[in-house]
Amino acid sequence: MVTIVKLGGSYITDKNKPESILEDRLEKIAKELSFVPGPKIVIHGGGSFGHYYALKYGIDNPIGISKTRMAMYKLSMKVCEYLDKYGLRPVIFPGGSHFIIRYIDGRRIPTPVNFYPIERTAIMGNTPVTFGDITFEVSRTASKPTIISGDEIAYAISAYTVMRYSSRVFMISDVPGVYVKPGGPLIKRIKVLSNEFVDENGNTGSLDDIEFRDVGDATGGMKAKLERAMKIARKGVKVIISNSILEASRGRGTIIEF
Ligand code: IPE
Repeated sequence: MVTIVKLGGSYITDKNKPESILEDRLEKIAKELSFVPGPKIVIHGGGSFGHYYALKYGIDNPIGISKTRMAMYKLSMKVCEYLDKYGLRPVIFPGGSHFIIRYIDGRRIPTPVNFYPIERTAIMGNTPVTFGDITFEVSRTASKPTIISGDEIAYAISAYTVMRYSSRVFMISDVPGVYVKPGGPLIKRIKVLSNEFVDENGNTGSLDDIEFRDVGDATGGMKAKLERAMKIARKGVKVIISNSILEASRGRGTIIEF
């Protein structure tokens, strides 16, 4: 079983302060991940590193591309320091070097390029670490820089590996999972095929009935996160949204499956 862990940028950094890392969270994540058996791949977001520089300099010019990538390396090295501390033998693969966006009929399709070294490294017993990054959006007629998010990378890896390995995705953020409504029960399981959920009290409902808190977040909050998780689950890969790797590996959190 390959475990793909997506760490949200706002989970591991303080988004309000440039280049600030929440080190206690990295410590917790690395420690928990060291107990998970089998190959692992870690993907992290940009938080107050990538997003800050992408916004400051733009991404359609050489300075912005360089500054943003350099900041992401810095963050990634910090993630790796903690993974290394817990014996996870991390190896960095920049998102922009291993994933592109194919743009076909108005749809963004995150696609691996040169995935082989990542795959081999994971099988060797190392932990590949990749991150949301500046890459290129390539259509039949044009190509331009774009940001590929950590969630898009999780999708690309899931879609690419689903026929070859059994894998699962843990989406780790600061909430234990998806709630039926603010203050309401936690959703235990979502079936994307039937559009239904079961909550922690055993009650069922339709996904259309979920009430999301309006977070005013640029990346769309939990509603957008759930949509991205459902895209992965539609490929046949189970996703667990949780605030803890340990809990997720015990099947706790919100499970999204086909
Ligand atoms: C963005 O990655 C990376 C850059 C801005 C270069 P994500 O979109 O996955 O980052 P978070 O999780 O929202 O911070």
